[in-house]
Amino acid sequence: MTPVTIIIFGASGDLTQRKLIPSLFHLFIKRKTPRELFVVGFGATPYDDERFRTHLREALNQFAAYPFTEEEWALFAARLRYLQGRYTDLADFKRLGEMLRALEGEKGNRLYYLAIPPSLFSSVVDLLGLTNQLVEDGGWRRVIIEKPFGTDLQSARLLNQQLHRTLKESQIYRIDHYLGKETVQNILFLRFANTIFEPLWNRNYIASVQITVAETVGVEHRGRYYDGVGVLRDMFQNHLLQLLTLVAMEPPASFNAEALRNEKIKVLSAIPTMSEEEIVRYTVRAQYRGYRQEKDVAPDSNTPTYAALRLFVNNWRWQGVPFYLRSGKRLAQKQTRIVIRFKEPPLSMFPLPPGKRMNPNLLVLSIQPDEGIHLRFEVKAPDTLAETRSVNMEFDYARAFGPSAVPEAYERLLLDAIQGDASLFTRADESEMAWSLLEPILHTWEQKEKPALAFYEPGSEGPVEAERLLEQDGEVWL
Ligand code: BG6
Repeated sequence: MTPVTIIIFGASGDLTQRKLIPSLFHLFIKRKTPRELFVVGFGATPYDDERFRTHLREALNQFAAYPFTEEEWALFAARLRYLQGRYTDLADFKRLGEMLRALEGEKGNRLYYLAIPPSLFSSVVDLLGLTNQLVEDGGWRRVIIEKPFGTDLQSARLLNQQLHRTLKESQIYRIDHYLGKETVQNILFLRFANTIFEPLWNRNYIASVQITVAETVGVEHRGRYYDGVGVLRDMFQNHLLQLLTLVAMEPPASFNAEALRNEKIKVLSAIPTMSEEEIVRYTVRAQYRGYRQEKDVAPDSNTPTYAALRLFVNNWRWQGVPFYLRSGKRLAQKQTRIVIRFKEPPLSMFPLPPGKRMNPNLLVLSIQPDEGIHLRFEVKAPDTLAETRSVNMEFDYARAFGPSAVPEAYERLLLDAIQGDASLFTRADESEMAWSLLEPILHTWEQKEKPALAFYEPGSEGPVEAERLLEQDGEVWL
């Protein structure tokens, strides 16, 4: 059997410790990876194989989501290698090539993981190309790239051009870890593996869609990366727009990468660009108080840590249905959810108390934590003449499948990349399309400083301006 080697650039970094190694280890002990697996760490830190293993063992003690035995660790540790090297040095890449050939024997499949700053992406890919490591003679070669894929449309295009000099698009796996989340994949199953939702899934029955990604953490130790980047680039360009496309897309003809991604592109291209006037009125940018005092953040920084937007998807299915998106750091609770609000019944025949309206039906997709799906509907309150009460029909992942049923997003994505399934990865045109959508907003925010930067208290629900955004449409955040 042809061995698979995963080469991690940035092997001594945070992502490797927290996500990549725990996920690979877990896949390995669940016997989901090929048995002939090697993991080669490449980085600047002066480790040898043994010190690399010790470092990763400590990481697992801290970040492994499941208990494991010494025997399992020993089997996995035997698969780990390390090479100290520089990301811009041809000689170091030659050494890497030789090491890989020696490990693989005759031939091997390779997955290169770029867990490094974006400024190094093109150098690493060029050096891999120059040392003939990307030629698929006998084994496949794939490259996973961590976001950010550029910081605006122009830099995203440039990055894609640089990558395409050496790689075919089919070899590039741009990772968005939200797509690896079980609950996010389930959006498609809910919609297309059931008959009861899809007939209602359109402008005739849906009044609005809200997508919230709220975090309790601040920028923590990532000030250097985050400041100047801000929430639109960090969260909207990728995660929030991906969630939106999954909610809004048409059913693809088949469940394969190209068909799926073609449908997502259609959604993004149906979102009209906002005029400056609309941006001022229908976007909110805000910063949590105390952000400017965070480590590696400029004391006069205007970087937004919170944003809320109203978007439309102008096609037959969605014309006129507002999509409200919001995301922020240092909020009251960690919660990612999508709320579909249905229209009210055309006629309320039940006598309601004066000023009271019938509650609309809601379908809530709870992405994390408390993974589940809830459908709110109205029933008659017992022992009343005609009073209605809202109740929920609930699906809870933990209750249905057990408390540790939902795997880490990176597990699924690493496995897909090993198996050559790019469905859950972002294609070049998708990433560029997302940038072109955000470009006018970024421009108005950053060049024209409009709308004014708002502020919110850490631990709050966000700025009051976000409430007002919805009030204009007679809506509230649900
Ligand atoms: C990352 C962002 O992509 O996603 C972080 O860079 C953010 O700023 C994180 O905290 C959120 O991911 P999750 O899985 O915790 O919702």
